[in-house]
Amino acid sequence: MNKDDLPPGPDLTQGVAASELTDGRPLLGHIGGQAVMLVRQGDAVHALAATCTHYGGPLAEGLVADGTVRCPWHHACFDLAGGAVRAPPALAPLDCWDVNRENGIVRVGAKRVPRAPPRPPRSPGSVVIAGGGAAGEAAASALREFGFDGSITLLAADSAAPVDRPNLSKDYLAGKAPEDWLWLRANDYWAQQRIDLRLHSRATELDLSRRRVGCANGESFAFDALLLATGAVPRRLDIPGARLPHVYLLRSLHHCQAIIEAVQAGAKKVAVIGASFIGLEVAAALRERGAQVQVIAPESAPLARVFGPRLAAAVAAKHRDMGTHLHLGCKPVAIHADTVELDDGTRVPADLVVMGVGVQPADELAREAALVVDRGIVVDARLRTSAPGVWAAGDVARFPDPFGVAGAVRIEHWAVAQAQGRLVARNMLGFDEAYQQVPFFWSQHGDMTVSYVGHAESWDTLDESGDPQRGDYLCRFIAGGRVLAVASVGRDLDGLREELAMEKQLAAAV
Ligand SMILES: Cc1cc2nc3c(=O)[nH]c(=O)nc-3n(C[C@H](O)[C@H](O)[C@H](O)COP(=O)(O)OP(=O)(O)OC[C@H]3O[C@@H](n4cnc5c(N)ncnc54)[C@H](O)[C@@H]3O)c2cc1C
Ligand code: FES
Repeated sequence: MNKDDLPPGPDLTQGVAASELTDGRPLLGHIGGQAVMLVRQGDAVHALAATCTHYGGPLAEGLVADGTVRCPWHHACFDLAGGAVRAPPALAPLDCWDVNRENGIVRVGAKRVPRAPPRPPRSPGSVVIAGGGAAGEAAASALREFGFDGSITLLAADSAAPVDRPNLSKDYLAGKAPEDWLWLRANDYWAQQRIDLRLHSRATELDLSRRRVGCANGESFAFDALLLATGAVPRRLDIPGARLPHVYLLRSLHHCQAIIEAVQAGAKKVAVIGASFIGLEVAAALRERGAQVQVIAPESAPLARVFGPRLAAAVAAKHRDMGTHLHLGCKPVAIHADTVELDDGTRVPADLVVMGVGVQPADELAREAALVVDRGIVVDARLRTSAPGVWAAGDVARFPDPFGVAGAVRIEHWAVAQAQGRLVARNMLGFDEAYQQVPFFWSQHGDMTVSYVGHAESWDTLDESGDPQRGDYLCRFIAGGRVLAVASVGRDLDGLREELAMEKQLAAAV
């Protein structure tokens, strides 16, 4: 490797002076061309890969605290001692190296061989997971990570293996990411991990007394433990023309590819119905493909209910700067072959229409099996449904708000679904843990990425600093003196510190 191609910093096998290591501040270097960081916490010094296993975020710029390092981009969290994943969206642990200290010099030695996980407290014979999305994939992978040796069947209604769904409204839709980036796992991963991934396998029947799940394709699977991770389905407005062939929804890879094909086939005038996160991200991505984009939404300030007025206005301004026309305060009343008709009489020209008007939980399997369902499958803090041995996680699950503020909540975030999938894996194996993580999501609008930790359905005070339009902003959403959530733009470390503070609050409340 050419010297200029090496990651920055010293070759850590040559050693660095111990005095160069500041407590809690990673020192970036490299070993054999790989970016590696040295992290001192107290007396301990750790050598770990410096590249996040999610999208390759720069971990040396992350937050070191309480024996962990957190990624500045989307808040994945890893153990410093051993590199284990503590929180998604990390997809794998970090490589670690031995560290030798002698005469004031810290030198990195051999790469450690990952240890086999200890035997879990309990082991069901067979696990079936319905749903090959964020929660289902995370649960299947985590079962192996936590030492499960029995059979795992992952039933996926889709024709495609599990994908990085957030990318479907961002770089992939914009034409800036190749298809290779979408797969959560390499092709041979499933066989290597002995996970029986069944595509085209929609679970349609749940027989609780015989403990079997039946699929639409006629196959059926016995289970000792079952996870329902069927996610959510996009809503379609009930207006004339809503099912015309040029009207698209966006949830799956198939949906996304259909939109891309329509643009590639010449569609140029796009109407996005709904200024939701997905609606606005689609607008930004299709602008990048050169389409003329108009967004139609009933609210006057899109996303203000989640982001507050100032940040929401900055996001709207960003979309206008990107050339998207926003029709706010109006509703579509009909979709025609080449226009969308609004309730104020406007006709928005459109040869492609994308509806981003929210989702509903895919809970019919549970409902038909008479599990307790209330706008999602109701679970307890351990993510157990009302039927023994059956869990639910992700967008389909309604769980007790760990902060005890909002009662039961259903949260539609990628990392929450993954964290819940991992927690279900642990609980199937007898660890008996409650869901206690601070929710996190991110949303991307052109070059503006908003990070959001916590969950605030309402607030009485906004504590804001900086300017979102300058890419330097933080806002705390406060109710009754308590910080429920924090949104930030360009303040990654501050956002991580706020998350840590909320975690400590949660832990103290238990
Ligand atoms: C385009 C898009 C962009 C997004 N961007 C972000 C983002 O930037 N940040 C963020 O935090 N969140 C984002 N989200 C939300 C995030 O993707 C979801 O919260 C997350 O995917 C939920 O995971 P899940 O496993 O519950 O459901 P899903 O990931 O939807 O997985 C459920 C899977 O189950 C399958 N299924 C359904 N029914 C059955 C059945 N009966 N049998 C078998 N399989 C079944 C479905 O086909 C699907 O593949 C985005 C969502 C979309 C659609
Ligand atoms: S790149 Fe690290 S969490 Fe996304």
